[in-house]
Amino acid sequence: MSQHTQASLMGKRILLGISGGIAAYKSAHLARLLKKAGAEVRVVMTEGAQAFIAPLTLQALTGEPVRTSLLDPEAEAGMGHIELARWAELILIAPATADLMARLAQGQADDLLTTLCLANDAQWFMAPAMNQAMWRHPATLENARRLQGYGWHLLGPDAGDQACGDVGPGRMLEPEAIVNELLDRLTDTASKPSGSAQQATDAAELTITITAGPTREPLDPVRYLSNHSSGKMGFALAQAAAERGARVRLISGPVALETPPGVERVDVESAQEMLAAAQKAAVDSDIFIGCAAVADYRAEQVAEHKIKKSSDEDALTLRLIKNPDIIARIAENAVNSRPFVVGFAAETRDLERYALDKLTRKQLDMIVANDVSQPGLGFGADKNAALLLWHGSEAAPGRLELSPQPKTILAARIIDTAIKRLSATDEHPSCTSSQVTR
Ligand code: C5P
Repeated sequence: MSQHTQASLMGKRILLGISGGIAAYKSAHLARLLKKAGAEVRVVMTEGAQAFIAPLTLQALTGEPVRTSLLDPEAEAGMGHIELARWAELILIAPATADLMARLAQGQADDLLTTLCLANDAQWFMAPAMNQAMWRHPATLENARRLQGYGWHLLGPDAGDQACGDVGPGRMLEPEAIVNELLDRLTDTASKPSGSAQQATDAAELTITITAGPTREPLDPVRYLSNHSSGKMGFALAQAAAERGARVRLISGPVALETPPGVERVDVESAQEMLAAAQKAAVDSDIFIGCAAVADYRAEQVAEHKIKKSSDEDALTLRLIKNPDIIARIAENAVNSRPFVVGFAAETRDLERYALDKLTRKQLDMIVANDVSQPGLGFGADKNAALLLWHGSEAAPGRLELSPQPKTILAARIIDTAIKRLSATDEHPSCTSSQVTR
């Protein structure tokens, strides 16, 4: 994919850490993918990991001895643990269990893997994997934030069916997705001076507000106008932003989704309520993402009592009036006193043309365009594809095409691009169009 042009794993010295979770069986495939991408891979396993997968498997796949113990004189006689820490240009822990995260967040060095992490100052990535309740526990979330503050990049977790039968966040990303994420994060940090901590630290300084889901426009005390938006894309964006360490406010219409860990959620019903919450949140937000499917119209009069079926009339006339355009209201604020504004455009034809028109008309900084005519993608689905557009040079808009992929992964790409564009416009304000100068 085009966004991977800069980063490569060719010749990269990767230390793959495996801790004791059921997802450890996937680490064998991950080791293969890393090798296939040209990386040199050495594996360190915790004691728990060895209950799920044999060191010999990883040894056969990497062609290198697998290290499991800090106090193994034979292994230390080869490459000692400090040499191994120095050797590694990148540490990737997959799966990273709740226990391992807790130990690393405390700076413990009570086994080989944690010791290596403490003794290495290169680039650090981990793919958390655990039961959804463990992931959601405030202690784990606090550990995740702390680790991000230390410079760890968290890849995932994904949400869905779990080995224990639960459903929710905590699944390890699939090995292919881990490699893709790794390449993307390396691309993002390639031009930054101080290596691994930079991207996480940047995001950790940001406040990101996201609107999600549908709105409900009341007709009377029991009826409303709404749409089929599931809120999945907005919630995935909130999760991705929180994983990057940002402070995240999620303004959600009525949806059947759980709040991603670490996200501050405000529930609203109507477009007017959403506008009020958005305006309040936008005041101190760095990025505002309007992902909600806001109803364009609402009833001019909301009946005080249930509208009765008339026995004489075959038709009922409702008069609708236009709802405020929330994102346009946020974007119309004066130069520099508004966040970086990202909108969405769901189209069934002429995707780029209509999206560019919305980008300009609503005075947005970036737009995420979806072709909703493609089967299995978009509304209600777990997958989506997108075309990201922003104000580029005079000659052409900036663009990034993202192929069909799970909304969780796509969301990470969108958040990373928004953060990158925010930094770019802060550094080169002239890159934005004349109407949208920040
Ligand atoms: O409905 P439309 O295609 O114009 O939506 C494009 C963008 O504007 C989306 O980001 C959507 O969240 C936002 N929007 C809004 N308030 C509206 C209508 C749309 O914030 N009333």
